[in-house]
Amino acid sequence: MSKPEILIVGPMHQSALDRLDAEFVTHKLWLAPDKDALIAKIAANVRGIATTGNHGATAKLIDALPKLEIISCFGVGYDAVDIDAAKRRKIPVSNTPDVLNDCVADLAICMMLDIGRKITQGDRYVRAGKWLKGPQALATRVSGKRLGILGYGRIGRAIAKRAAAFDMSIGYHSRNKVTDKPYAYHASAVELAKHSDFMIIITPGGKETFHLVNEQVIKALGPKGFLINVSRGSVVDEAALLKCLQDGSIGGAALDVFEQEPKMDEAFWTLDNVLLQPHVGSATHETRAAMGNLTVDNLLVHFSGKPVLTPVY
Ligand code: 8YV
Repeated sequence: MSKPEILIVGPMHQSALDRLDAEFVTHKLWLAPDKDALIAKIAANVRGIATTGNHGATAKLIDALPKLEIISCFGVGYDAVDIDAAKRRKIPVSNTPDVLNDCVADLAICMMLDIGRKITQGDRYVRAGKWLKGPQALATRVSGKRLGILGYGRIGRAIAKRAAAFDMSIGYHSRNKVTDKPYAYHASAVELAKHSDFMIIITPGGKETFHLVNEQVIKALGPKGFLINVSRGSVVDEAALLKCLQDGSIGGAALDVFEQEPKMDEAFWTLDNVLLQPHVGSATHETRAAMGNLTVDNLLVHFSGKPVLTPVY
């Protein structure tokens, strides 16, 4: 039987690309000099899309592919995939949950420790020769402090498990209350912020959480509070955050994701109370390989006539 044709929207881990090339007839959209021309040429034959959390799949792309049967997304976040357009045609969409929980939680904890204890700030301090002139300003204790987790899903749980080892008192705000843990539930993001020294955002992106962390929430964290975002840039009102960082109404922020990444207001680059990361929550060899395998496996099970392993709806 001939191999199914799939469209790969953007680059992903090399091991996944190699497996896709071996199992399917692949078309690589990001390499095409004229993307519309490529789509027009292959539209009648494409049965699957492999995409990534950041490249997604627009309604325009989905609608342009009449034979499309499956969208497999490399990444747990699928807010860039137009789910309504997929649902209209009953096209299954899969993502890569769980395999990245540990790495994203590790990064969230690293970023919290870094912004609290001024680790990268200290590194800059030493390299600039400032230590020769005197000690760095004191930092903020992390152990034993109050951690608010905004979005208590699978990664939120992995973060809580790690934070417990730092004797942190854990609160959360989420759509659902958890019953198996003694953590304090707060009814809104602003209430959570009021009761947090550090607040880690790990909600899904998309319309429902757009600017959930607005100026009011940021100010509720206060001048000694720290915001850590490892979810999606869209969850935070970035302009409001920048203003609050500049005028000291929040203590600091550690950001792995941005509203228009990789772009951001360059004023962030000038602030010392900010840690900036290039969206690397899942970016380890091990986790990206596991995400790649799940992305390919979802396509393979679909084309063998079975339901995808990790459907998003
Ligand atoms: C990836 C992510 O950077 O899984 C997600 O939702 O944000 C990251 O793991 C992204 O999906 C790669 O495109």
